[in-house]
Amino acid sequence: MIVYFNGNFLELDEVKISPFDRGFLYADGIYEVMRTYYGKLFRYNDHLGRLKNSLDSIKIIYEGIDSFETNIYKLFKLNYYTNPNLSVYVQVTRGVSFPRKHSFPDGKVSPTVFVSVTPIDDDTKIIHKGIKAILEEDLRWSRCNIKSISLLPAVLANQHAVEEGAGEAILIRDELLMEGSHTNFWGVKNGEVWTAPLSNLILPGVTRTVILELCKKEGIKVIEQAIHKHDIKNFDEYFVSGTTTEIKPVIQIEENIVGNGKPGEITSKIYQAYQKYVESKTWI
Ligand code: PDD
Repeated sequence: MIVYFNGNFLELDEVKISPFDRGFLYADGIYEVMRTYYGKLFRYNDHLGRLKNSLDSIKIIYEGIDSFETNIYKLFKLNYYTNPNLSVYVQVTRGVSFPRKHSFPDGKVSPTVFVSVTPIDDDTKIIHKGIKAILEEDLRWSRCNIKSISLLPAVLANQHAVEEGAGEAILIRDELLMEGSHTNFWGVKNGEVWTAPLSNLILPGVTRTVILELCKKEGIKVIEQAIHKHDIKNFDEYFVSGTTTEIKPVIQIEENIVGNGKPGEITSKIYQAYQKYVESKTWI
């Protein structure tokens, strides 16, 4: 597997990262996950915009950001993948500095930049069956709009979901269902779609943006309001969304079966609209 590391294309086992990298010591960095369809990056400008915003928010200056797309496409070529569906992981940390101290390094330190590309397995079965979700307290910090590599609360929540045989953990803050551990969260009531509004308490998902556009096109009303935990039983459908997740129906939350326990009508409509949009290739 060839990866991009600090300006070079290397075999994965050639990459050397210092233990004094601030990503390792402080989780002082950000990341981004993108994907391809038909071998082309999906909504690249949205991902780039979010990456830039994450970098700006934590004051990392990475000058190579605007020529980044070329490196990613070079990485596709160097890996000779035959699968046209690839997931792209990008991580940028504040770089290496010694001795360890909390404040930013003195002088100019280059950020550490890492990119890897892996094929995405097709899991259309889940789309047809749906997943179970559990509820977890949202223990994350209050700047969840930054795609920080400090992911421990999300890791623990997702691990708990796995242990419970669930596909996702939905995070609750102040009694409101904000988003999943690695997805945005949606409900459907009386044909209207609900999702938490953009704020510092959720990640502005690129798939979320696409779904909002598709709902508008399909004439589906969207209410950007987080669902209250006391209202869970009043919704007809739920689903989660994300770059590699796409759109996955949620058919059970904790012990509550959603609707008739099958993916809902509006969820399926949105999923189909999403697939049509992907196939249209108008996002290239
Ligand atoms: N997760 N909310 C959170 C907390 C996320 O981590 C993600 C993405 C999303 C969905 O965003 P998008 O539609 O842009 O993928 C929402 C990535 C994929 C991850 O951590 O692997």
